[in-house]
Amino acid sequence: MEFSDIKTELIRITDPDQQQSDIARAAACIRQGGLVVFPTETVYGLGGDATNASSAKKIYAAKGRPSDNPLIIHVASPEDAADYAQLCPTYERLARAFMPGPLTVILPRKQTIPKDTTGGLETVAVRCPVHPVARALIRAAGVPIAAPSANISGKPSPTCARHVAEDMNGRVDFILDGGDCEIGLESTIVAVTGEDRVTLLRPGAITYDALCMVVTHVEIARAVSEKLGDNEKPLSPGMKYRHYAPDAPVVLLDGSDIAALSFLLREQHTHRCAILCYDEEYARLIENVDDHSLLFPIGKAADVASHAKTLFTALREADRAKPDIIYAHLPSKEGLGLALYNRMIRASAHTVLNVD
Ligand code: TXA
Ligand code: MG
Repeated sequence: MEFSDIKTELIRITDPDQQQSDIARAAACIRQGGLVVFPTETVYGLGGDATNASSAKKIYAAKGRPSDNPLIIHVASPEDAADYAQLCPTYERLARAFMPGPLTVILPRKQTIPKDTTGGLETVAVRCPVHPVARALIRAAGVPIAAPSANISGKPSPTCARHVAEDMNGRVDFILDGGDCEIGLESTIVAVTGEDRVTLLRPGAITYDALCMVVTHVEIARAVSEKLGDNEKPLSPGMKYRHYAPDAPVVLLDGSDIAALSFLLREQHTHRCAILCYDEEYARLIENVDDHSLLFPIGKAADVASHAKTLFTALREADRAKPDIIYAHLPSKEGLGLALYNRMIRASAHTVLNVD
């Protein structure tokens, strides 16, 4: 498919209530089978009509994604999911606690959602985002919106409109620019596997501990933090694809902050290294690095929410600087840290260096 024919219209949306005619135009485009990129609280989504098989095909083509990797459907309110999935008491409890918000729940699919949207699966992933632009768009479209992250397959998910435009200009009809995404990492995904029982497939801002407050049995899929063997089948198709992978190799440093800093101070003399560093280290590094454009501060060491919000931007920009190697700290697996750990370990293809 030739993409450059599509003229992409970029619209900045600061207040969806005041910009109802812009939202209505984008919503009409979705209903007519077009593609609209929209902001959510996690990352930007590449949206099309989830009930239309040809929209799903267009999404896969625009993203360059294999069509066996299923799409999440986005609904305007948690109850709307009843038209598209078989709901259950566990879903209702999760919805009351976390929706609208950064949680996706996998449930049995109803016939209203074609198999093209679910990558051939009999299940469907449902999410109700909290971002006001996303909600206004879904409501105005009157159909659920199927949306993967709005990156070209294999690149970090976009968290601002500039990154969306880099990947999607000429491939979609509209880009709605809602500013920077608040969370910066994709939603938490759980599969309901029984009454009061879920499996965590992808960690996000709804943490393992938060899920445990609502559901008694929460299992963490092994692929969340470990490398699967060649013959192991992941529980979610997306887990088998290489993800979040910059061109330069990523190496994660395991050890105390002091040991990591002295390693980095030595290393930068021998390689062209891009460094995702804590704010506290930045001042020390900047005194010693000739090329400051290779340093990417991601927030204070203790501010995991800031690391999450900055990570994908830092990875994209680090990669653009064409370094020999990208170094970052190995995140802790506590709380939101597990989501960072999961993304970083995949970006680095499980490359961890002990520096203590
Ligand atoms: O925060 C998010 O979830 C963003 C925003 C746009 O909502 N969306 C997003 O979509 O991250 P995507 O397509 O990049 O990631 C969805 C993941 C994929 O790894 C896919 O394999 C998995 O969800 N998935 C979707 N439907 C599934 C299903 N029925 N069973 C198992 N995994 C599923
Ligand atoms: Mg994605």
